[in-house]
Amino acid sequence: MQKKQVYVYKAFERFWHWMQAILIFFLAFSGFEIHGSYTFFGFQDAVKYHNIAAYMLIVLIVFAIFWHFSTGEWRQYVPSFNNIAAQLNYYILGIFKNSPHPTKKTVLTKLNPLQKLTYFGLKILVIPVIVTSGLLYMLYRYPQRHGIEALNIESLELIAIIHTIAAFLLLSFIITHLYLITTGEKVTTNLKAMLTGYEELDEHNDEEKKSSSEKSE
Ligand code: HEM
Repeated sequence: MQKKQVYVYKAFERFWHWMQAILIFFLAFSGFEIHGSYTFFGFQDAVKYHNIAAYMLIVLIVFAIFWHFSTGEWRQYVPSFNNIAAQLNYYILGIFKNSPHPTKKTVLTKLNPLQKLTYFGLKILVIPVIVTSGLLYMLYRYPQRHGIEALNIESLELIAIIHTIAAFLLLSFIITHLYLITTGEKVTTNLKAMLTGYEELDEHNDEEKKSSSEKSE
């Protein structure tokens, strides 16, 4: 089948992706300093910067939620269990034998079933847990303390543990994500697509895009 350059990732999507990546990297870096894993900024500054980045992430998340619902892109993340075994098999074995990718990427289905499941889990579980526990952590420690006491939070320990577990989960996602980025057609294909928005896909994807935009007109 003929290949064509297709506009897969829109401008906001790319902005959101890269801002999110930078903020999460920074939050992980400053967070693990707060955790006591190393010293870089110094504890007080690490807390200050962690809080600023956390607020930026929350604002970004609000915009991203609005964008996903107003464009209908949220549908990309609805998990589908079709082809999961084939996709797993591909990552474990097929990829090393140059087997073809078991799922075809199109504008309407950008994510393979494993990605859908993982991103869905991040969006409805890991991110909400890290944001909520982070906010409780923040509000407990600072002037709003009395408000939080009304919620009956006896100790920070449980919140800190939940926040740290979510941070480890996010970190393991990032490590896997960095590896999977390199598993496109060429090592740099996926990275280039998220930078420019364009990716070389089978030609029928364009038709699919056309017919979907005709339908929505
Ligand atoms: C909106 C999101 C977030 C908020 C509101 C938030 C807030 C906080 C606060 C208030 C603290 C405690 C600072 C102190 O001791 O005074 C903290 C600690 C920490 N944060 Fe976050 N954070 C967020 C996201 C993240 C992310 C994305 C990561 C990592 C990927 C992360 C990793 C950590 C770690 C590892 C700690 C140290 C926990 C401990 O050992 O006590 N945070 N965070």
